[in-house]
Amino acid sequence: MAKLIGGLGTSHVPSIAAAIDKGLRDTPDWKPFFDGYVPGQEWVREHKPDVAVVIFNDHGNSFFLDKVPTFAVGCAEEYKPVDEGWGPRAIPPFRGAVDFSWHLVDTMVESRFDPMICQEIDVDHGIQVPMELFWGRPAAWPVKVVPIFVNVIQYPIPLPSRCYELGRVLRKAIESYDSDERFVVLGTGGLSHQLQGARAGFVNPTADRAFLRDIATDPDTLAAMSREKYVELFGSEGAELMMWLVMRGAMDRDVEVRHTHYFVPASMTGAGMIVLENKAAGDGRQAA
Ligand code: DHB
Ligand code: FE
Repeated sequence: MAKLIGGLGTSHVPSIAAAIDKGLRDTPDWKPFFDGYVPGQEWVREHKPDVAVVIFNDHGNSFFLDKVPTFAVGCAEEYKPVDEGWGPRAIPPFRGAVDFSWHLVDTMVESRFDPMICQEIDVDHGIQVPMELFWGRPAAWPVKVVPIFVNVIQYPIPLPSRCYELGRVLRKAIESYDSDERFVVLGTGGLSHQLQGARAGFVNPTADRAFLRDIATDPDTLAAMSREKYVELFGSEGAELMMWLVMRGAMDRDVEVRHTHYFVPASMTGAGMIVLENKAAGDGRQAA
């Protein structure tokens, strides 16, 4: 059966993509941010996952406010990077894992999650940026990708506890998939930011640092928090952070934190990263 070898969490701020495109990686503003991802890049190089399940939200590029699924799963051969208005980006399309996607959708339905099924869909910075942060700029992505879209934009958004439960179902799907492929799950979004309204520009580094600690050690408390509490602590768009709970729900209760990094502000956002392994798994490198 397929194997889950790790859980990654990261922000997906679009200005990170712009910084890469403009060659700003080593400028004083950006270098401390990008340097923090080097251990994460080393981790994926060493552990060589075959498939990345990426949990993210679309930002009005493939879904608009008129039609928003609460949960959607990509079931396509390929996902093209969306041009978000700055012109086409020099990144390759993402190769799908269609057979697993259908298995995942089936497992979800059997577990009473009923997602929208997307056989053709483009993907925005919510997936582009995390892929570049961990895998750099390859000519072709070395992993297949399974996108899971979560509505954290158009109210009512799902409960954090529901995201956590979805993670458990994802784990079940991976471990019942007849394949020897190695999976990683990426939770993306956050950390604190608010891009509109009276609190535009709000960041909360104290809450962000607590989240980076608790996502490893106390996910049940984060899953039990209300949506309103996410908005209060992390900002209206920082509520994206609940998508990390899908990743966390796929992992064991006891995890090892391999790497973590926090930087503020990236654009108007508290930006964070984490690399988790299941404690019971030991060092995935030996098992490779
Ligand atoms: C911004 C957009 C995002 O989707 C996000 O997660 C963080 C920041 C932005 O436009 O600055
Ligand atoms: Fe976002």
